Order: sequence, then structure tokens, then C-alpha cells
Amino acid sequence: MNKNRISIVILAAGKGSRMKSSKAKVLHTLSGKEMLYYIIKSSSEISDDITVVVAHQKDAVMKQMCSYFDDINFVVQDDANFPGTGGAMKNVSFKHEKVLVLNGDMPLVIPESLLPFLQTKSQIVMSIFDLQNPDGYGRVIIENAQVQKIVEQKDASASQLKVTTVNAGIYAFSKEILEKYIPLLKNDNAQKEYYLTDVISMARADGVAITPLLVDEELFKGVNSKKDLSHAEEIMQERIKTRLMDSGVTMQLPSTIYIEESVVFEGECIVENGCRITGNSKIIDSHIKAHSVIEDSTVKNSDVGPLAHLRPASNIEDTHIGNFVEVKKSSLKGVKAGHLSYIGDATVDEGTNIGAGVITCNYDGINKYKTVIGKNVFIGSDSQLIAPVTLQDNVMVAAGTTVRSGTIQSGELAASSAKLRIIKDFYYKFFAKKQL
Ligand code: UD1
Ligand code: MG
Repeated sequence: MNKNRISIVILAAGKGSRMKSSKAKVLHTLSGKEMLYYIIKSSSEISDDITVVVAHQKDAVMKQMCSYFDDINFVVQDDANFPGTGGAMKNVSFKHEKVLVLNGDMPLVIPESLLPFLQTKSQIVMSIFDLQNPDGYGRVIIENAQVQKIVEQKDASASQLKVTTVNAGIYAFSKEILEKYIPLLKNDNAQKEYYLTDVISMARADGVAITPLLVDEELFKGVNSKKDLSHAEEIMQERIKTRLMDSGVTMQLPSTIYIEESVVFEGECIVENGCRITGNSKIIDSHIKAHSVIEDSTVKNSDVGPLAHLRPASNIEDTHIGNFVEVKKSSLKGVKAGHLSYIGDATVDEGTNIGAGVITCNYDGINKYKTVIGKNVFIGSDSQLIAPVTLQDNVMVAAGTTVRSGTIQSGELAASSAKLRIIKDFYYKFFAKKQL
């Protein structure tokens, strides 16, 4: 998309008290990324001059956003002296003649939906939608077919509260309008805040025409509460999964699947119902079976699950991972681990079979240690490998063996299970005694 000659200001300084959280509102996440990330990303597709206004938890907000973007400006709001959306605009300067003001709590906005704001010549364009339940929004007062003012819920009279046309919170202003009216804002309202929305009534009083732009509620809805966040999450998930299915990923019952924005799929992949795939996971030509969880891991030419858990930094290639297998920070190439295992801090090489119930004991309560398993190793069921431990190529481990630290050499069998004892009629004697 072409970058337009437009400056964008994203207001992200507010506390977001309706989230009932110690974390700044814009840092709450959707599909693995902060709300603010999404609106900056959409903005950066249409503008080369983006300013984010911060105050509450400003260091955390700036640090996190700088990890994604390197070409945005930050302005710190003096929120003690100038609270409110108008106060947020006080120290912002603009490169271009047209300025689009967005709220940081609108993660669902897409670049295409911002273009209509730029296509009108009006000095003020403001977004509106009609809501059955306008609760929480500023009401748009229209008289003689002209927007006259916006009244915040807390300042509204009983009759104004009944207005269902609300301010969606996105505006395109000419730079001239902002430079003229922002310094004139006052805080004589119920919240003692400087409202950006008052620019509209002041400009109107001076005869400036306000162009209302009807926008799609689903795209522009602000996230103010945890309920709103969960609703936005559903929409974001729908988008992510539609994009992936359009690119060829097969999904069974996609409404039950959660996939984060950053996950990459390549080739022919199937994801069954109930799976959760997060972080920088990469799935290539693989089948992820029902109810598996994959975090920050790469899976190539493999099948995983049902009910398997790949924890961060796992690298799975040409491998079968079956049910109730947990893998962490391990590389498995050409391996079969069919049932009930924990494989952590390990490398496992081609042709190796990991029996049911095999555990790498990687942690001694203080430190973590590595397990190295070579090619064509056969590890019998219910064995424990106490790290640091190495099983060279072509090793066998008998079922029920505890391999303590050290190296098992190629060709060797490791067996620690006790000799089987058989005691005749023990069963009958044991229970006969119990019944007495
Ligand atoms: C605002 C509008 C309201 C509109 C609604 C749409 C005002 C006065 N009201 O209300 O008319 O219907 O958005 O969602 O503008 N922020 C700052 N500094 C502050 C306060 C807020 O940067 O001092 C930021 C917040 O981080 C947020 C955005 O501005 O991203 C909107 O703030 P919020 O408190 O959600 O405003 P609303 O009460 O929803
Ligand atoms: Mg809001």
C-alpha cells in the first residue's frame, strides 16, 4: 500500500481502569501481541509519520513497541496537568497537513478502513456508528444535519444518553485545526479532563463543517474491558485462521483452534480441533493432532499429538510425537516418541525409538543438564535417563532402567531392573490374611 502524506497520532497514554488490571490497557494482548502493536502496524502501512502518545507505564509501552518497530515517534503526555484525550495531543507536532488521530485500544482497525478518512477534503472528519447499546461512548449530537458536538457519557443529560449515534474515536483533522484548538481546550467537565472531542464543538461554533463518516463497528470498536478484549480476540482469531486456510492450511473445527499472529505455516499442514499454537512457531508439512499445544517451536515433516505439548525451543523433524508426550528445548530428528514421555534439554537422532513412559531427568533442583541420544537407540518403556547423560549410536536400554549420569557406549545394553521374583500362591495367602 502507498504511504500517504498523512501524519498519524495514536493515543496510548491512558490507564484503562475498566480493564481492572495493573497493566496498561494497550499492553493487553490479542493473539500473542499487544493491542497497540496491531494499530501501529496498520498505521505504518499508510503513513511515514507515526506518533504514539504515552504516559501510564510509558517505559514498558515504549520498550515493547520498539521491539517491533524502529521508525515511530513517542511523545510523553503530561497526564498529571493535562489528563484526557485532548491533553494527550498537547505536545504532538505533525509533519503533514492532514492528521489522523487513532486510539491505541482499537486493535481491529485495518489499513483499508482508514483510507476513507483521507479521501475527503473536509477539515474535520469524525467516525461514527450506531449502537443499540451506546453505553460508555461519547454521544454525537446532530442538529440541522450537522454534527454540533460530542457529549461524553459522564456529562450527558438524560435525553442525550438516549442518543445511539456515537463517536467511534477516530478523526482526521487538518493540522491547522489542531494547532488552533488544542491550546484552547478546557477541563470544565465531569471528569476534569481535556477532551479532544471538544475540538469538534469549538470548530463547529466557528462555522467549520464536520463530516461524519459511518464506520464498521466490528473494526472500530474500542477495547475497554476484559469482555471487549475477549470479543476482539475472537475476531482476530477468525482473521488469522482465515488467512492461514486461504494459504492452504487444513483446519478441522477451526473455531476450537487458537493460533497466534506470529505463527508461520509452510507446505501441506493439517491442524485438528482444540490445538493451541503460539509464539514464533513454524509448522512445515506436518499434521498437528487434536488438543496439542505448540509453543515457540519448529515442526517439520512430522506428526504431533493428539494431546502432545511442545514447549519453547523444540525442533522436531521427520518425527512422530504421540499422545501425552512433552518436549522442551530439544531437537528430535527422525525419532518415534509415541506415548507418555518427557523429553527436555535433549538431542535425539535418527532411527531412535523412545518407549512409553521414558523420562529425561534434566533437573536436579538447582541446575538443568543435557541428554544426548544418538542414532538407532532403542529405549525401553518406563526408563529414566538422569542427565547429564549420553547414549551413543546403537544403544539399547532395557525397560524400567534408570540410566545414571555418564555415557553408554555404542553397541551396549543398559539394564538396571531387578531380577523378577516368582512366589507361588502369594496372592491367595495375602488376601486370605486380609479377610481375617
Ligand atoms: C473516547 C472518546 C469518546 C469515544 C470513545 C471511542 C474522548 C473524550 N472520548 O472515550 O467520545 O466514544 O473514545 O472509543 O476522547 N488516552 C490518552 N491519554 C489520556 C486518556 C486517554 O492517551 O489522558 C488514550 C487511551 O490510552 C486510549 C484513548 O486515548 O487509547 C481513548 O481513551 P479512553 O479512556 O478509552 O476514552 P473513552 O472514554 O473510551
Ligand atoms: Mg476507549
